[in-house]
Amino acid sequence: MHSDFDSVLISRERIEARISELAARLDADYGDKNPLFICILKGSVFFFTDLLKALTIPAEIDFMAVSSYGDGDTTSGYVKIIKDLGRPIAGRHVVIVEDLIDTGTTLSHLCELLKTRDPASLRLCTLMDKPERRLVDVTVDYCGFQIPDEFVVGYGLDYAERYRNLPEVYILSRKVYEK
Ligand code: PRP
Repeated sequence: MHSDFDSVLISRERIEARISELAARLDADYGDKNPLFICILKGSVFFFTDLLKALTIPAEIDFMAVSSYGDGDTTSGYVKIIKDLGRPIAGRHVVIVEDLIDTGTTLSHLCELLKTRDPASLRLCTLMDKPERRLVDVTVDYCGFQIPDEFVVGYGLDYAERYRNLPEVYILSRKVYEK
């Protein structure tokens, strides 16, 4: 393993197995609903594509890029839309797909924003959740893994835009981000 990493937190095999389980649940829950899955760029891109390929039901996809602004540790942040959805979501069954919920700030604001567009339903699916870090309540409907408060990279997640293309999730060594 590269010296930038302390350990593999979630192996390729565990990711694949968990995605199969999540896809089976989504298949069962959305079989007749033609759901719209929204990929929140950039971190969720690999999870999103693997999850969507594992579904057996009809589904549509769209993409958003957002940036969350807060004031230090407060929860008064808001979401700035960098790239918006291509089409309206009114009346649609929508599933937001994220890589990681940390403080909850981004998803809380994003859910509030999307609810104003009158979807028939809105649920959240995340590969990873760090519940210890939560500052704002967010209802996570589908969660791959609850993880400890470690700096994780790989499988879409970055440090300074590096490591996103790694096929598994690693714990980044402190020496990388404290130097
Ligand atoms: C990450 C992640 C969530 C957000 C979670 O995105 O994908 O969108 O942070 O953090 P929060 O719960 O504290 O709001 P990031 O801003 O790193 O952008 P990226 O997906 O482009 O890497």
